[in-house]
Amino acid sequence: MSFVKMSEKVFWIGKVDDRKVPFHRLILERGTTYNSYLLLTDKPTVIDTVDLMYGKEYMDNLTKLIDPEEIQYIVINHVEPDHAGALPALAAKAKNAKIVSTELGATILKDMFKLHHREFITIADGDTLDIGGEVLKFFETPYLHTEETMITYSMEEGVLFPCDLFSTHIAAFDLFNDLVEEADYLEDFKVYYNLIMSPHRPYIRDMLNKIKDLDIKAIAPSHGYILRKDPGKFINIYDEMSRLNPSDKKVVIAYSTMTGNTTKIAQQISEGLKTAGVESEIINLKNADLEEVKAKILESDGLLVGSSTKYGDMVGTVEELLKSLKDANVKGKLAAAFGSYGWSGEAIMYVEDYLNEAGFKVINQKYMIAGQGMDTLLLPLRIKFAKDEGLELANTAGRIFGEQILVNS
Ligand SMILES: Cc1cc2nc3c(=O)[nH]c(=O)nc-3n(C[C@H](O)[C@H](O)[C@H](O)COP(=O)(O)O)c2cc1C
Ligand SMILES: [Fe+2]
Ligand SMILES: [Fe+2]
Repeated sequence: MSFVKMSEKVFWIGKVDDRKVPFHRLILERGTTYNSYLLLTDKPTVIDTVDLMYGKEYMDNLTKLIDPEEIQYIVINHVEPDHAGALPALAAKAKNAKIVSTELGATILKDMFKLHHREFITIADGDTLDIGGEVLKFFETPYLHTEETMITYSMEEGVLFPCDLFSTHIAAFDLFNDLVEEADYLEDFKVYYNLIMSPHRPYIRDMLNKIKDLDIKAIAPSHGYILRKDPGKFINIYDEMSRLNPSDKKVVIAYSTMTGNTTKIAQQISEGLKTAGVESEIINLKNADLEEVKAKILESDGLLVGSSTKYGDMVGTVEELLKSLKDANVKGKLAAAFGSYGWSGEAIMYVEDYLNEAGFKVINQKYMIAGQGMDTLLLPLRIKFAKDEGLELANTAGRIFGEQILVNS
């Protein structure tokens, strides 16, 4: 399969990969598809490419359709190498093409593929680009599923090119969803959402809001079937799966403080958790019965432990509580450390060490990158004193923790 005509102007120029593909520490048992598209308009435009491995094959196929030097634009919705991997091969031949991406996308592509000498068009949310006989409209979709992502909509054709969104990891030899039984891919479509997109739930809500008034006749994602039968159904599935179902998950926030700064942080974390739909109980450990606190922790779905720093150490009875958790069964529970500090903030590190030792799944940068491919420097949460900017960060950190609670099973 080298190319497939989807309409007068739109061609599929992707690659079906039916190996058991290794991906983000998973093995894709049913393979995958790298969908790339060529819009043969007056200013021919390519939307996304294919995996790094298939650059040569891709260029051989593409050249059957068009002289690459005629290509005017290369739209890169997402920089990961399963879609942008063949960009160096394409750009080398498509000498006249401008590369279209978000600003952050452009920065990453230039560094990753040494494209500093190439002309980029950086788009902002809602920008359009006339490609001669078709107009493309772009929407920024940050964190779906990486920070630089955007999606592309062709206004005349009514086709949405959302890259990783609405994708399925499956070797889609038939390419179009109306040519196969729905039962053959629907479950995989949902599994894909759960694995790749669900940790970014609030951003999914923003994206759905941006596309809600578009007349979408087909969704042409970058993995799996092109959804030209009943595209609205798949948007509805994302809508349903990203809705905030009132959760019965509960988190304990336990902390020690000297002058109340850590209390303010705890309160903001609790607010952030609430935004994510997770209830919490805030416990100031001063005068608290530690046995009772421990019992509450064992009943909860997650724990945030806070301490400010005094002479390079934790304060109050927080260490006593953490020691008592060492022999408790907390396997699988999520936890994170937080605290206010003045200049060094050692306490937060020690709290995190104890949480690790007790066997919690500790949310920090390592956890977020390994689990979601999402970088966050917010957890453990270290706030200098309790200034407004710091409290805002505490709120966001609470929301992030809450999102992780919702997807943790
Ligand atoms: C006696 C004392 C010792 C402190 N020692 C440290 C320290 O070693 N490292 C640090 O980062 N901050 C230190 N601080 C600053 C506090 O951690 C900071 O004021 C923090 O905001 C207090 O939070 P809290 O009100 O929750 O206790 C110290 C403060 C006091 C009063
Ligand atoms: Fe991706
Ligand atoms: Fe992908």
